[in-house]
Amino acid sequence: MQIIKTIKVMQDLSRRLKADRKSLGLVPTMGALHDGHLSLVRRSGEENDRTVVTVFVNPAQFGPDEDFEKYPRDLDGDMEKLSDAGVHAVFTPESSEMYPDGFSTSIDVGYMGKVLCGTARPGHFGGVAAVLAKLFNMIMPDRVYLGQKDFQQSVIVRKLVKDLNFNTEVIVCPIVREPDGLAMSSRNVYLNEEERMASLILSRALTMGQELIQSKGIDDAAAVKKEMEKLIKSEPLAELEYIDVVDTHSLKSIQRVLFAAAICGALKIGNTRLIDNVIVEKV
Ligand code: PAJ
Repeated sequence: MQIIKTIKVMQDLSRRLKADRKSLGLVPTMGALHDGHLSLVRRSGEENDRTVVTVFVNPAQFGPDEDFEKYPRDLDGDMEKLSDAGVHAVFTPESSEMYPDGFSTSIDVGYMGKVLCGTARPGHFGGVAAVLAKLFNMIMPDRVYLGQKDFQQSVIVRKLVKDLNFNTEVIVCPIVREPDGLAMSSRNVYLNEEERMASLILSRALTMGQELIQSKGIDDAAAVKKEMEKLIKSEPLAELEYIDVVDTHSLKSIQRVLFAAAICGALKIGNTRLIDNVIVEKV
């Protein structure tokens, strides 16, 4: 497994793979890898000749009061996990390599970057789009693997690829959860024992919403939201940021669930911000 720190070496490798007609899967991450990340790596391994994983905590997607400094970093642990996973190369540049002095370009992802997580994190999705646009240009992947865990991100990246004509296919993989339902996240290490218990309220509320729509046949999104909010408010450690029932393509709130919808939520437990979602489909 090759470990690459510079854009030039990364570009040379990608060009060589293209010349050899090897298909290339990209799994972009911010490291502190868990089984959710590794599920993307495995899927890429199944569908491509070569897989490149990027490990880069992208400063452009963190707000000034967010956890960039203390975001979990464990490069040695990450390398160990990836070396067993059949990865061809890990690209892990320094910030100064990705954003040298004078870097000034930004990407405005429009409406979809302003709703849901975008309300509390203005600029976040622009920062995600900027780093991914750079990675797509330098790595030229045939396929890029993202998790449904960050549903809004996956919808925005699909749009980015379409709008800017990146020659890559976006593949969104299912959410990997802990046995009790908590969606795996690098940020879960912030939770103490009591907070870890309390964190389950989010996946429970989403599952309840899903059941109300799919099993009980309720199509009134406001009624479903009200029930989910009530459940979340019953957990004293949880501070609800948002929970919404949205269209899976436009991310706009919907009033009646006719065919499919995404229920997306974010809350804080202590200082830890957690997000999760479920897709509901009416048959
Ligand atoms: P990060 O949070 O490290 O996540 C990297 C990828 O792993 C994302 O596509 C995310 O959705 C996926 N992922 C995280 N937890 C998952 C889980 N429990 N199940 C399935 N997939 C999961 O998302 C980012 O990094 C960054 O924004 C990035 C795309 C790398 C751009 O900087």
